[in-house]
Amino acid sequence: MVIKTYSIHPNFYEIQHPLLLHKLSILRDVSTSTKSFKELLNEITMLLVYEATKDLPITSKPVRTPLETFEAPMLAGKKAVILPILRAGIGMVDGFLSLIPSARVGHIGLFRNEETLQPELYFLKIPKNSANRHFFICDPMLATGGSACETIKRLKAEGVTKMTFVCIVAAPEGVKRLAKEHPEVPIFAASLDRQLNERSYIVPGLGDAGDRLFGTK
Ligand code: PRP
Ligand code: URA
Repeated sequence: MVIKTYSIHPNFYEIQHPLLLHKLSILRDVSTSTKSFKELLNEITMLLVYEATKDLPITSKPVRTPLETFEAPMLAGKKAVILPILRAGIGMVDGFLSLIPSARVGHIGLFRNEETLQPELYFLKIPKNSANRHFFICDPMLATGGSACETIKRLKAEGVTKMTFVCIVAAPEGVKRLAKEHPEVPIFAASLDRQLNERSYIVPGLGDAGDRLFGTK
């Protein structure tokens, strides 16, 4: 896969691959059904996870093949945690679990306070003893970056030090905000889109990811 980087963030990676580009174009299409949207989101997530997990540490343990016993490479450390941001992040969980079936799944729920315009936490459930686990935060959309920054802040308050943010579409505004507030957290995305519009939607984007995933509009 080709990995494109940008000067606006030291750890932002746009994953480019013909299959991914094709699937993303169909995902964006306004005429794509809820069923197809869900399937494509799952498939694109798998392709992103392959790259986003490339630096996971490896250890070894003896494995007996039919011919001999040898030191076989295995994932090291405590089981990773997938943390979808409700609601739309839920659509990426199965894609993660297809490749990391032993991962734990936490949940974080945020809503935007319409007076302060700040994201407010309404739900957070993560495994006990999370400090030494690698968290993969997932949300299809990185728009203003408000939800992502609040999530990372909450995880840091819980003692989490290893995090990766995986999204489908990112806006430069949100990527810049993450670069300022949490530059050490890598971001893997299928596309860095052009900009936010006046309603803070990503353009060209794919619309409201939660509504398209759950058919609520
Ligand atoms: C969307 C999206 C992100 C957030 C991104 O969720 O799934 O969580 O907006 O915007 P930000 O970068 O400006 O914070 P939304 O609030 O629409 O909730 P939903 O998933 O329940 O539809
Ligand atoms: N949330 C969405 O679902 N879509 C956007 O374009 C921006 C935020």
